[in-house]
Amino acid sequence: MADAALAYDVRGGVAVLTLDLPGEPVNTLSPATGALFDAALSRALDDTGVQGVVFISGKPDGFVAGADVRWLGSLKTREDGERASREGQAGFDRLSKYPKPVVAAIHGACLGGGLEWVLACSYRICSDSPKTQLGLPEVQLGLLPGAGGTQRLPRLIGIAQALDLILTGKSVRPSKARKLGLVDEVVPKPLLLEVAMARAKALADGSLQVTRRSLGGTGGGLFSLLGALGSKEAWTELALEDNPLGRVFLFDQARKRLRAKTRGHYPAPERALDAVRTGTERGMEAGLAAEAAAFGELLTTDVSHRLRELFFATTELKKDRGVADDSVKPRPVTKVAVLGGGLMGGGIAYVSAVTARLPVRVKERDDASAGRALAHVRGQLQAQVDKRRLTPRELETRLAQVTAGTDWAGFARADVVVEAVFEDVALKQKLRDEVEAVTPETCIFASNTSSIPITRLAEGSRRPAQVIGMHYFSPVEKMPLLEVITHAGTAPWVTATCVALGKQQGKTVIVVRDGPGFYTSRVLAPYLNEAAHLLLDGAEVRAVDEALLDFGFPVGPYQLLDEVGIDVGEKVSHVLHAAFGERMHAPEAMGALVRDGRLGRKAKKGFYTYDGKKKVVDESVYAVLPPSTKRRVVTPEEVVERCVFPMVNEAIRCLEEGIVRSPRDADVGAVFGLGFPPFRGGPFRFADTFGAAALAGRLESLASKLGARFEPAALLRDKAASAGRFYP
Ligand code: NAI
Repeated sequence: MADAALAYDVRGGVAVLTLDLPGEPVNTLSPATGALFDAALSRALDDTGVQGVVFISGKPDGFVAGADVRWLGSLKTREDGERASREGQAGFDRLSKYPKPVVAAIHGACLGGGLEWVLACSYRICSDSPKTQLGLPEVQLGLLPGAGGTQRLPRLIGIAQALDLILTGKSVRPSKARKLGLVDEVVPKPLLLEVAMARAKALADGSLQVTRRSLGGTGGGLFSLLGALGSKEAWTELALEDNPLGRVFLFDQARKRLRAKTRGHYPAPERALDAVRTGTERGMEAGLAAEAAAFGELLTTDVSHRLRELFFATTELKKDRGVADDSVKPRPVTKVAVLGGGLMGGGIAYVSAVTARLPVRVKERDDASAGRALAHVRGQLQAQVDKRRLTPRELETRLAQVTAGTDWAGFARADVVVEAVFEDVALKQKLRDEVEAVTPETCIFASNTSSIPITRLAEGSRRPAQVIGMHYFSPVEKMPLLEVITHAGTAPWVTATCVALGKQQGKTVIVVRDGPGFYTSRVLAPYLNEAAHLLLDGAEVRAVDEALLDFGFPVGPYQLLDEVGIDVGEKVSHVLHAAFGERMHAPEAMGALVRDGRLGRKAKKGFYTYDGKKKVVDESVYAVLPPSTKRRVVTPEEVVERCVFPMVNEAIRCLEEGIVRSPRDADVGAVFGLGFPPFRGGPFRFADTFGAAALAGRLESLASKLGARFEPAALLRDKAASAGRFYP
C-alpha cells in the first residue's frame, strides 16, 4: 500500500493523519492499514513539534466502513480469527495508551472496525451530516466486534446502551451519538477539521479535560435495550448497571429476549453478550480474551458464512446494471409518475420522492383518493420527524416534490410511469393506452402487477419495448426488494433504466424474466399451498406456524396469509394453477375460507383473531374445513419438509427455465422478498448445504406418499446424479 493511503501533515503543532485508501470507494480496516497508522503514530511521537494528533478520512462522504471483508475472507480457521482479533486489540490498545491526544474527526459511515478504532482515541467529534452514522454491525455478518469493541463501548456509554448497539448491529446518527456519549461533539462538516485540531491542542495543553464515566454508568439505556428486544416492563427507575445483582439481572433478561427473538439460530449476539458480561465481571483483559476467542469461533460458523455470502451478493447487485451488454446505458430519469396512489402507489410515490429525490406526480381516480395518496406520503414523513430524523421544514420540502390529482398533469414530462391500480388486466391495458397518448415517446410504462404477465400488458402497446414490470413489496417503504420483470421484447435500456431507478429508490433489485408469478410469488405458492394441504390433513394452525418460525421464517404461512389477505393468496393461486397445472393446485380450503369472509387481518377474521391484544388462533377456522378432517399431531420435520422443500424445488425450476438469472439473485429474492431465513442463505445455499442428492431423495419420497407435486425438478435430478452444487 502506498504512503498516499495515510497522509501525514503537521499544521500548527497538530499532526493530521488523513486516511484515503487509493482506488477504493471506502476506507476499510486491515492489518496493512493498521501498520500504516502505527507508523504514523510513531512518527508523531518522535516529532517534538507535534502536540496532538487528528485522525480524519480523505473520502468525501465516508470515514471507515469496517473491516476489509476480503481480508476477513482470507481468515480460514478459528486460530486465524482469534489471532487477527488479538492483533487488532493490541493495535487499539497501543492507540488508547498513546501519550499524545488523538482526536477522531468523523464524517460519513464509521462502522465496525472503524468505530472500534475511534473508541480507542482520546476524543471523538463527528459532523452533523445525515451521511454520518456510527455502529457495530458485525452481528449482521454473524460475527462480533473483535478489536476491543465489546469492551470499550460499554465502558464509554454504559452496558445497556452498548448492548443495544452490539446485539442488534444498528447504527446511530450524530445527535443520538452525542446523547449516548459515543461522540463528544457534533459540528457542521466544514468545521470538522478545524475544531478537531483545536481540541487536540486543548487536550495537549490541559485546557480541555474529559472525565469519562466508569463502567456501570446510569441505567438510562436499559429501556431502549428492552424496547429493542421487544418489551417495556415497569422496572423503570432501577439503575441496574450500578450494582452486581442488577447487572446479572440485566444480562439474564437480555439473553432471554435474544433467545426468544433468534430462536437460537444466531450465535453471534449471544457470544457478544458473553464477551461484554465477562469484561464487566472479570475485567478488560478477560473480556478481550473472551472477545477474541468468540471472534475466531464465529468466523468459521455456517451462519457467518451464509450471512457474509448474502452481504457479498447484495454488494454485487448494487453494481449490477441488470443487463448483460455493457454498452447499454440507463437513461436519466428526472420525473416519475405514479398511476393509482393506493397502498402500493402511495409507497412508490414516497420512495421516488423522498429516497430517490425525484419530482413525482400521482394520478388517482377521484379527489379523495388523490388526497389519501398525499396523506400517505405526509404520514411517512411525519413519522421521520417524530423520530427526529427530519425537521418539519425538511418535511415540507420533501412533500413539495409530490403532487396528486385526477388529470394527466405532469405526465408530459414523465420518464417513467409506475402503474399501481387494481389488479385487473383490462383496466391496466386501457390505462396503458391513455398513458402512451400523453407521455413522451421515450417514456417507460412499468407495472407493479403482482400476477398479470407483463407480456399481456405489452400486447397491443404502441411501445411494447418500453413495457416492463416493477414489482414492489408491501410496505414499500420498508421492504428492501424490487423485482424488475422483463418480457421478451423489453428493450435493454428500459431494463437498465428501471434497475437504476430502483436502486435510487433504495432497493435491492433483481431482474427476472416474465412468467406466471414471476419469481417470488411463484416460489411462495407451493409453500402456502402445502400449508393448506397440511390443514386438510389435520395439522393445527399453531403447530405449522411454529415449525416454520423455528426453521427461521419471520412469520408462519397462515400468519403470512392473514397479513397478505387470504383472498389475495387465493387469486394468485388460481393464476398459477392455470399456468402450471396440478403441481400448483391450491386445496379447496382456501376458497372455503374466503367464502366464510375470512380475508385475514384486513377483515379482522382469518387464521388468527384480531380483537384482543394477544394474537391467538381463531379456533372456529377448523369448522370451515371439511367435517371429515381429524386434528392430528404433525412433527416440525414433516412441516418443514412439506412446505420448504417444494419451495426450494420451485426456485430450482425458475433457474432451469431462466426466470432468474442466477442462484445469487434467487437467494437474495427469497431472503429479502419472502423472509427465507437469512442464516440459511436462501433456497440455493440451502440446497447446497443439504446436498442435491439428499434433497432429491426426500422429494421423491414425499412424491410417492403425497403426490406428484413433490417431483424433483430436472435440474435438481441432474445435480443429484453428478454430485454437483448450484454454487461453485
Ligand atoms: P389499492 O386498492 O390499495 O390501490 C389501488 C389504487 O388504484 C386505488 O387507490 C384506486 O383508487 C386506484 N385506481 C383504480 N382505478 C384507477 C384509475 N382508473 N385511475 C387512477 N387510479 C385508479 O391496491 P394495492 O394493494 O395498492 O395494489 C395495486 C397494485 O399493486 C395491484 O396490481 C396489486 O396486485 C399490486 N401489488 C400489491 C401488493 C400488495 O401487497 N398489496 C404487492 C405487490 C403488488
